Amino acid sequence: MNLFLENIEKVAKAIKPIAKAKKVIVFSHYDADGIASAAIFAKMLLRLGSNFQIKILNQLTKKTASQLNFSNRLLVFLDFGSGQLDSLAHLLDNNIVLIIDHHKPKNLSHLNLFHLNPHLFNAEEASSSVYTYYFAKYLDVKNVDLAYLALVGYFGDNIFLTTQEKILEKVLNECVELKQIEVKKGLKIFGRFSKPLYKALAQSYECFIPGITGSEEASVQFLSEIGIPLKKRENFVRLADLSEEEEKILASEIIKLRINEDRPEDIFGNIYLIKKAPEELKDIRELATLLNALGRKQYYDIAIKLAWLDSKVLNKAMQIYSEYKKELSSYIDFALKNVKHMENVYVIDAQDKIPHYAIGIITSILSKTNYSDKPVIGLANYDEETVKVSIRFSGNLDVIKVLKPIAESMDGEAGGHSNAAGAFIPLEKKTNFIKTINKAIGDANGKGSQEQKMVHSGFRPSLPQ
Ligand code: C5P
Repeated sequence: MNLFLENIEKVAKAIKPIAKAKKVIVFSHYDADGIASAAIFAKMLLRLGSNFQIKILNQLTKKTASQLNFSNRLLVFLDFGSGQLDSLAHLLDNNIVLIIDHHKPKNLSHLNLFHLNPHLFNAEEASSSVYTYYFAKYLDVKNVDLAYLALVGYFGDNIFLTTQEKILEKVLNECVELKQIEVKKGLKIFGRFSKPLYKALAQSYECFIPGITGSEEASVQFLSEIGIPLKKRENFVRLADLSEEEEKILASEIIKLRINEDRPEDIFGNIYLIKKAPEELKDIRELATLLNALGRKQYYDIAIKLAWLDSKVLNKAMQIYSEYKKELSSYIDFALKNVKHMENVYVIDAQDKIPHYAIGIITSILSKTNYSDKPVIGLANYDEETVKVSIRFSGNLDVIKVLKPIAESMDGEAGGHSNAAGAFIPLEKKTNFIKTINKAIGDANGKGSQEQKMVHSGFRPSLPQ
């Protein structure tokens, strides 16, 4: 067993009696990884008979962290906390603090601090849900039934993780052995069970299909040309309704269209299905997407119950999801009309036209379509004095290394990963921030900076229905 897992086990054993004896407050992040981690931890505490509360936050900012005021508690931070450790230091004398996180950590030691972060142990980085799962399992082996949630959080955070980690293989093997997950080969297209195939193809932003992504008409025509029916017995065909043979034909035709992409065959691969889940929640990636939407719309209790596969909340969850997608569609419209082409970056300065909880997703979507050649930076109002910043880039540049010093030099804060990071900066520094980061990225690429004339690329994707 690796050193990090050994430490998780030791800490779980040490925390177990404390979690029974003290009131526990669990803080977690509102994205899929945070919700999956909170769902694992909450179920573990329920089984332990703990007295606990769950608080989901859109981000643990320095300000929120420094204002926390507790004593004689077990305070747990999931999927954040490592980067804000200096702002949590005031809690350490009078509480026990446990952090399970995978973001770049600050280093601090204290007798009352249990800090589980792979970067501190030189271990490979996976999602917080993976480590939270091992924590729960080592605390009590009956929590192995939550293994699928480790994967849900992992796939929810997939864009931030770059490699196929060994620990992922380990958790996946456990899920298969425990008969929780079935692994199949198939098209990695969102909506296998939940959307008509023609819509799923038109909305395939994760794996771009040239000529199809963004156009339902093109998608319908493509299916007819390759002989895949639009409807079977009056119902629109879903990916789940295709025979193995039909799915293979579809995959090879899509790979042909993607021939000029970096990895055209990436669209075909492993599909992970949760055996005991209702159809709508079977595909791990879809459950992760739902959790993300529910978290961002602040339906935290529904999100946690959905993570536990409680079908009683399914209808409500689907309804919230469908409204959320409509919202996203209008934000995409705004972003495409207002994207500013600078020499080294694309900028969407949304102000209050895109809410802060959606700016990261919109920035991600743009960076996967026609705006993948330079980093995309999204900015949205956070509160009256603060702007939320998101940056995405899959090329050869560590965006957090560029973003963090700039945000901090402007009295802001930043965190994240090499291909996806976020920050909060004071509103009055926004113009200067955009100029500075454009220049810094140019310098990192060995170019200067000069704003170019704005040109719109003309590509216009339609969004998820
Ligand atoms: O908010 P956004 O989606 O742009 O964040 C991208 C990544 O950066 C996420 O993993 C998020 O948790 C992280 N982040 C952070 N600290 C911040 C803002 C974002 O660790 N202040």
